[in-house]
Amino acid sequence: MTEFEKTLEDMKKRHLPDSPQDKKNYKCTKCRDSGWVEVIHEGHIRMKRCDVCESRRLMMQSGISQEFQTKCFENFDTRNEPQLINAKGKAVEYCRSFLDIEHTRNNSIMFYGQVGSGKTHLGTAICSCLMGGNIAVTYMTYRNTVTKIKQRMTDEADYNREVSRYAGARVLYIDDLLKGRITESDVNIMYEIVNYRYMNSLPVIISTEKALDELLEFDEAIGSRLIEMCRGNIIQLQGKELNYRLFS
Ligand SMILES: Nc1ncnc2c1ncn2[C@@H]1O[C@H](COP(=O)(O)OP(=O)(O)OP(=O)(O)O)[C@@H](O)[C@H]1O
Ligand SMILES: [Mg+2]
Ligand SMILES: [Zn+2]
Repeated sequence: MTEFEKTLEDMKKRHLPDSPQDKKNYKCTKCRDSGWVEVIHEGHIRMKRCDVCESRRLMMQSGISQEFQTKCFENFDTRNEPQLINAKGKAVEYCRSFLDIEHTRNNSIMFYGQVGSGKTHLGTAICSCLMGGNIAVTYMTYRNTVTKIKQRMTDEADYNREVSRYAGARVLYIDDLLKGRITESDVNIMYEIVNYRYMNSLPVIISTEKALDELLEFDEAIGSRLIEMCRGNIIQLQGKELNYRLFS
Protein backbone atom coordinates (compact mmCIF):
# COMPACT_ATOMS: atom_id res chain seq x y z
CA MET A 1 0.00 0.00 0.00
CA THR A 2 1.43 3.40 -0.98
CA GLU A 3 1.67 6.28 1.46
CA PHE A 4 -1.21 7.98 -0.34
CA GLU A 5 -3.46 4.90 -0.16
CA LYS A 6 -2.66 4.58 3.53
CA THR A 7 -3.66 8.18 4.04
CA LEU A 8 -6.95 7.56 2.23
CA GLU A 9 -7.69 4.42 4.23
CA ASP A 10 -6.95 6.31 7.41
CA MET A 11 -9.36 9.06 6.43
CA LYS A 12 -12.08 6.59 5.49
CA LYS A 13 -11.79 4.85 8.86
CA ARG A 14 -12.27 8.12 10.65
CA HIS A 15 -15.19 9.01 8.40
CA LEU A 16 -17.45 6.03 8.92
CA PRO A 17 -21.01 7.13 8.16
CA ASP A 18 -22.77 8.67 11.11
CA SER A 19 -25.73 6.87 12.58
CA PRO A 20 -28.97 8.85 12.07
CA GLN A 21 -28.81 9.61 15.78
CA ASP A 22 -25.34 11.18 15.44
CA LYS A 23 -26.36 13.25 12.43
CA LYS A 24 -29.23 14.75 14.31
CA ASN A 25 -26.90 15.99 16.99
CA TYR A 26 -24.52 17.95 14.77
CA LYS A 27 -25.24 21.51 13.73
CA CYS A 28 -22.72 21.00 10.94
CA THR A 29 -22.48 17.49 9.51
CA LYS A 30 -19.53 18.47 7.31
CA CYS A 31 -17.11 19.06 10.21
CA ARG A 32 -19.18 17.54 13.04
CA ASP A 33 -18.99 20.90 14.79
CA SER A 34 -15.20 20.86 15.06
CA GLY A 35 -14.84 23.82 12.70
CA TRP A 36 -12.17 21.93 10.74
CA VAL A 37 -12.19 19.44 7.87
CA GLU A 38 -9.44 17.20 6.56
CA VAL A 39 -8.15 17.67 3.03
CA ILE A 40 -5.40 15.85 1.21
CA HIS A 41 -2.60 18.11 0.10
CA GLU A 42 0.41 16.59 -1.69
CA GLY A 43 -0.34 13.19 -0.20
CA HIS A 44 -0.68 14.43 3.38
CA ILE A 45 -3.71 15.15 5.51
CA ARG A 46 -4.10 18.83 6.19
CA MET A 47 -6.70 20.58 8.29
CA LYS A 48 -8.76 23.36 6.68
CA ARG A 49 -11.41 25.58 8.25
CA CYS A 50 -14.91 24.27 7.53
CA ASP A 51 -16.43 26.56 4.88
CA VAL A 52 -19.99 25.73 5.96
CA CYS A 53 -19.29 26.92 9.51
CA GLU A 54 -17.41 29.93 8.15
CA SER A 55 -20.45 30.99 6.07
CA ARG A 56 -22.63 30.60 9.15
CA ARG A 57 -20.24 32.69 11.24
CA LEU A 58 -20.19 35.44 8.60
CA MET A 59 -24.00 35.47 8.54
CA MET A 60 -24.16 35.83 12.35
CA GLN A 61 -21.70 38.73 12.22
CA SER A 62 -23.25 40.46 9.20
CA GLY A 63 -25.99 42.21 11.15
CA ILE A 64 -28.77 40.75 8.94
CA SER A 65 -31.91 40.13 11.01
CA GLN A 66 -32.99 36.59 11.70
CA GLU A 67 -36.09 37.04 9.51
CA PHE A 68 -34.00 38.03 6.50
CA GLN A 69 -31.26 35.42 7.01
CA THR A 70 -33.53 32.92 5.29
CA LYS A 71 -34.13 35.06 2.18
CA CYS A 72 -32.45 33.64 -0.88
CA PHE A 73 -32.87 33.42 -4.64
CA GLU A 74 -34.70 30.11 -4.32
CA ASN A 75 -37.52 31.60 -2.24
CA PHE A 76 -37.83 34.74 -4.38
CA ASP A 77 -40.89 34.20 -6.57
CA THR A 78 -40.71 36.16 -9.83
CA ARG A 79 -44.44 35.56 -10.44
CA ASN A 80 -43.82 35.71 -14.21
CA GLU A 81 -43.37 39.44 -13.81
CA PRO A 82 -40.75 40.73 -16.32
CA GLN A 83 -39.39 43.34 -13.87
CA LEU A 84 -38.88 40.72 -11.17
CA ILE A 85 -37.37 38.22 -13.61
CA ASN A 86 -34.91 40.92 -14.69
CA ALA A 87 -34.14 42.01 -11.10
CA LYS A 88 -33.45 38.45 -9.95
CA GLY A 89 -31.39 37.76 -13.07
CA LYS A 90 -29.25 40.84 -12.43
CA ALA A 91 -28.79 39.86 -8.78
CA VAL A 92 -27.72 36.29 -9.64
CA GLU A 93 -25.37 37.56 -12.35
CA TYR A 94 -23.87 40.05 -9.89
CA CYS A 95 -22.99 37.21 -7.50
CA ARG A 96 -21.54 35.12 -10.32
CA SER A 97 -19.26 37.89 -11.51
CA PHE A 98 -18.46 39.28 -8.06
CA LEU A 99 -14.85 38.09 -7.75
CA ASP A 100 -14.02 39.42 -11.23
CA ILE A 101 -15.47 42.89 -10.63
CA GLU A 102 -14.84 43.28 -6.89
CA HIS A 103 -11.92 45.69 -7.21
CA THR A 104 -13.20 47.69 -10.17
CA ARG A 105 -14.98 51.07 -10.24
CA ASN A 106 -18.17 49.25 -11.29
CA ASN A 107 -18.55 46.71 -8.53
CA SER A 108 -21.89 47.63 -6.95
CA ILE A 109 -25.63 47.08 -7.37
CA MET A 110 -28.75 49.10 -6.54
CA PHE A 111 -32.46 48.27 -6.32
CA TYR A 112 -34.81 51.23 -6.16
CA GLY A 113 -38.49 52.08 -6.31
CA GLN A 114 -41.73 50.41 -5.28
CA VAL A 115 -42.33 49.67 -1.60
CA GLY A 116 -42.64 45.95 -0.82
CA SER A 117 -41.34 44.82 -4.20
CA GLY A 118 -38.61 42.60 -2.73
CA LYS A 119 -35.67 45.00 -2.82
CA THR A 120 -34.43 43.96 0.64
CA HIS A 121 -35.17 40.32 -0.17
CA LEU A 122 -32.95 40.45 -3.26
CA GLY A 123 -30.27 42.47 -1.46
CA THR A 124 -30.05 39.95 1.36
CA ALA A 125 -30.16 37.04 -1.12
CA ILE A 126 -27.02 38.52 -2.70
CA CYS A 127 -25.45 38.80 0.78
CA SER A 128 -26.26 35.14 1.57
CA CYS A 129 -24.85 34.04 -1.73
CA LEU A 130 -21.59 35.97 -1.18
CA MET A 131 -21.27 34.72 2.40
CA GLY A 132 -21.85 31.19 1.07
CA GLY A 133 -18.61 31.78 -0.81
CA ASN A 134 -17.00 32.98 2.46
CA ILE A 135 -17.06 36.65 1.41
CA ALA A 136 -17.81 38.85 4.43
CA VAL A 137 -20.72 41.30 4.17
CA THR A 138 -21.75 44.04 6.59
CA TYR A 139 -25.42 44.97 6.68
CA MET A 140 -26.44 48.51 7.52
CA THR A 141 -29.96 49.79 7.98
CA TYR A 142 -29.45 53.35 6.80
CA ARG A 143 -31.69 55.13 9.35
CA ASN A 144 -30.65 53.16 12.45
CA THR A 145 -26.97 53.25 11.61
CA VAL A 146 -26.82 56.97 10.89
CA THR A 147 -28.69 57.65 14.14
CA LYS A 148 -26.32 55.39 16.08
CA ILE A 149 -23.26 57.09 14.57
CA LYS A 150 -24.65 60.56 15.35
CA GLN A 151 -24.96 59.58 19.01
CA ARG A 152 -21.23 58.91 19.06
CA MET A 153 -20.18 62.30 17.73
CA THR A 154 -19.02 63.48 21.14
CA ASP A 155 -16.43 60.71 21.39
CA GLU A 156 -14.07 60.95 18.43
CA ALA A 157 -12.47 57.53 18.80
CA ASP A 158 -15.83 55.83 19.18
CA TYR A 159 -17.23 57.76 16.23
CA ASN A 160 -14.29 56.87 13.98
CA ARG A 161 -14.47 53.21 14.98
CA GLU A 162 -18.14 53.05 14.08
CA VAL A 163 -17.75 54.89 10.75
CA SER A 164 -14.84 52.69 9.71
CA ARG A 165 -16.83 49.54 10.47
CA TYR A 166 -19.09 50.50 7.55
CA ALA A 167 -16.63 52.45 5.41
CA GLY A 168 -14.03 49.67 5.41
CA ALA A 169 -16.23 46.56 5.17
CA ARG A 170 -15.37 44.20 2.33
CA VAL A 171 -18.97 44.45 1.07
CA LEU A 172 -21.51 46.90 2.52
CA TYR A 173 -25.26 46.51 2.14
CA ILE A 174 -27.05 49.84 2.74
CA ASP A 175 -30.73 49.05 3.21
CA ASP A 176 -33.43 51.70 2.82
CA LEU A 177 -31.02 54.47 1.89
CA LEU A 178 -32.36 57.98 2.66
CA LYS A 179 -35.36 56.76 4.64
CA GLY A 180 -36.69 59.43 7.01
CA ARG A 181 -35.92 63.09 7.56
CA ILE A 182 -32.43 64.09 6.47
CA THR A 183 -30.14 66.44 8.42
CA GLU A 184 -26.78 67.94 7.56
CA SER A 185 -24.95 65.49 9.80
CA ASP A 186 -26.66 62.58 7.99
CA VAL A 187 -25.12 63.89 4.77
CA ASN A 188 -21.69 64.24 6.37
CA ILE A 189 -21.75 60.70 7.77
CA MET A 190 -22.89 59.21 4.48
CA TYR A 191 -20.26 61.20 2.60
CA GLU A 192 -17.53 59.78 4.82
CA ILE A 193 -18.71 56.22 4.29
CA VAL A 194 -19.49 56.46 0.57
CA ASN A 195 -16.42 58.51 -0.38
CA TYR A 196 -14.07 56.10 1.38
CA ARG A 197 -15.64 53.17 -0.42
CA TYR A 198 -15.59 55.02 -3.74
CA MET A 199 -11.91 55.96 -3.38
CA ASN A 200 -10.97 52.39 -2.44
CA SER A 201 -13.27 50.61 -4.92
CA LEU A 202 -15.16 48.76 -2.20
CA PRO A 203 -18.54 47.33 -3.30
CA VAL A 204 -21.95 48.44 -2.03
CA ILE A 205 -25.34 46.83 -2.36
CA ILE A 206 -28.13 49.41 -2.06
CA SER A 207 -31.87 49.33 -1.69
CA THR A 208 -33.93 52.48 -1.57
CA GLU A 209 -37.40 53.81 -2.20
CA LYS A 210 -35.90 56.98 -3.64
CA ALA A 211 -35.55 57.70 -7.35
CA LEU A 212 -32.15 58.55 -8.82
CA ASP A 213 -32.91 62.29 -9.04
CA GLU A 214 -33.85 62.28 -5.33
CA LEU A 215 -30.52 60.61 -4.57
CA LEU A 216 -28.74 63.41 -6.43
CA GLU A 217 -30.87 66.05 -4.71
CA PHE A 218 -29.93 64.64 -1.29
CA ASP A 219 -26.33 65.26 -2.13
CA GLU A 220 -24.84 65.29 -5.59
CA ALA A 221 -21.39 64.16 -4.45
CA ILE A 222 -22.79 61.07 -2.70
CA GLY A 223 -25.51 60.32 -5.27
CA SER A 224 -23.22 60.55 -8.29
CA ARG A 225 -20.55 58.36 -6.67
CA LEU A 226 -23.12 55.66 -5.89
CA ILE A 227 -24.62 55.86 -9.38
CA GLU A 228 -21.15 55.51 -10.90
CA MET A 229 -20.30 52.51 -8.71
CA CYS A 230 -23.59 50.79 -9.63
CA ARG A 231 -23.53 51.62 -13.35
CA GLY A 232 -24.97 48.72 -15.34
CA ASN A 233 -26.55 47.31 -12.18
CA ILE A 234 -29.20 49.91 -11.34
CA ILE A 235 -32.54 48.14 -11.17
CA GLN A 236 -35.80 50.02 -10.94
CA LEU A 237 -38.92 48.29 -9.65
CA GLN A 238 -42.04 50.21 -10.55
CA GLY A 239 -45.77 49.70 -10.03
CA LYS A 240 -48.11 48.88 -7.15
CA GLU A 241 -48.69 45.38 -8.56
CA LEU A 242 -45.12 44.56 -7.49
CA ASN A 243 -45.93 45.12 -3.80
CA TYR A 244 -45.66 41.57 -2.47
CA ARG A 245 -47.33 42.56 0.78
CA LEU A 246 -50.51 43.47 -1.13
CA PHE A 247 -50.62 40.97 -3.99
CA SER A 248 -48.97 37.72 -2.94
N1 LIG B 1 -40.92 38.11 -5.22
C1 LIG B 1 -40.95 37.72 -3.95
N2 LIG B 1 -40.94 36.40 -3.63
C2 LIG B 1 -41.02 36.01 -2.34
N3 LIG B 1 -41.11 36.86 -1.29
C3 LIG B 1 -41.13 38.16 -1.56
C4 LIG B 1 -41.04 38.67 -2.89
N4 LIG B 1 -41.08 40.01 -2.85
C5 LIG B 1 -41.18 40.33 -1.56
N5 LIG B 1 -41.22 39.24 -0.78
C6 LIG B 1 -41.35 39.21 0.68
O1 LIG B 1 -42.20 40.26 1.04
C7 LIG B 1 -41.69 40.98 2.16
C8 LIG B 1 -41.41 42.43 1.75
O2 LIG B 1 -40.34 42.43 0.81
P1 LIG B 1 -39.05 43.35 0.98
O3 LIG B 1 -38.90 43.74 2.39
O4 LIG B 1 -37.90 42.68 0.33
O5 LIG B 1 -39.52 44.60 0.10
P2 LIG B 1 -38.85 46.02 -0.07
O6 LIG B 1 -38.92 46.35 -1.52
O7 LIG B 1 -37.51 46.01 0.57
O8 LIG B 1 -39.86 46.95 0.73
P3 LIG B 1 -39.59 48.35 1.49
O9 LIG B 1 -39.55 49.38 0.43
O10 LIG B 1 -40.76 48.48 2.40
O11 LIG B 1 -38.29 48.22 2.22
C9 LIG B 1 -40.46 40.22 2.61
O12 LIG B 1 -40.82 39.30 3.60
C10 LIG B 1 -40.02 39.47 1.34
O13 LIG B 1 -39.32 38.29 1.63
MG1 LIG C 1 -36.70 47.05 2.18
ZN1 LIG D 1 -18.71 22.87 9.85
